[in-house]
Amino acid sequence: MNELSGQVAIVTGGASGIGAATVTLLAEAGATVISADIQQAANDAPGRFVQHDVTSEPAWKALLADTLKHEGRLDILVNNAGVSGGWGTIESTTVELWRQVEAINSEGVFLGCKYAIEGMKVTGADKPAPKGSIVNVSSIAALIGSAGPAAYSASKGAVRLLSKSVALYCAEKKYGIRCNSVHPGGVDTAIFNPLWQAMGREKGKEMIGSHHPIGRMAEPEDIGELILWLASDRSRFVTGAEFAADGGVTSGLMRRSGFAS
Ligand SMILES: NC(=O)c1ccc[n+]([C@@H]2O[C@H](COP(=O)([O-])OP(=O)(O)OC[C@H]3O[C@@H](n4cnc5c(N)ncnc54)[C@H](O)[C@@H]3O)[C@@H](O)[C@H]2O)c1
Repeated sequence: MNELSGQVAIVTGGASGIGAATVTLLAEAGATVISADIQQAANDAPGRFVQHDVTSEPAWKALLADTLKHEGRLDILVNNAGVSGGWGTIESTTVELWRQVEAINSEGVFLGCKYAIEGMKVTGADKPAPKGSIVNVSSIAALIGSAGPAAYSASKGAVRLLSKSVALYCAEKKYGIRCNSVHPGGVDTAIFNPLWQAMGREKGKEMIGSHHPIGRMAEPEDIGELILWLASDRSRFVTGAEFAADGGVTSGLMRRSGFAS
């Protein structure tokens, strides 16, 4: 499959978890991929690694300039970098932690969208008009409430509606740039390391998996495949939309929950 051949993609948080799986899938589809992360990507990871902090506006300007200098164009941005902030509640979350989580999960996506549009508007002989796809990785925490992660839920909710705003703006401007959000359920990545350390990885996966109607947690590739589809022209009529990849969590109550019989 070489459907992304000739296209250039940036994946933030590309060194780990969902981002790393997405880097691999986009590269396998033929894209030139830039993995942008604060932590170094694995030596054998595909694509070009760029040290990048999504919270820094100068870093975004530099990343765009570097991409256009080396690759000459930008077609795909996956705003994936994110942190849990320790899943703190409204009572346990300090204002410092709140600002840190919003800076990465929400403001980082705002900056990504802003500079991606600038890059996707750059045209050339093989790209006659502005065109591109922005995929923002949100969470089911943006679709349903929870008493747990206060700052995380707020940050992911912001990403959900920012995505729609970006989509409608680009459509209005006739830019040919689409923007959609992805809402994963529990995915087996390093974001759960504290839980794995507390109760063991297999036991933890089983516990979280039991809360998913499909009966298991997701693997990073389960989410990466959806991102790949949204990045490609196969989803050409899709913009401003939100996609749960959550094994059924947000679909409703299960019979075994006892609320329906
Ligand atoms: N794992 C899940 O269950 C789950 C569920 C819903 C949503 N998500 C979202 O998926 C995305 C990816 O998370 P993951 O589960 O793969 O976790 P992960 O910890 O494996 O990967 C996150 C990556 O983001 C990078 N990162 C953190 N801060 C950054 C910054 N300031 N600048 C650049 N990179 C930064 C990290 O270095 C890391 O490589 C996050 O936005 C997360 O909120 C994850």
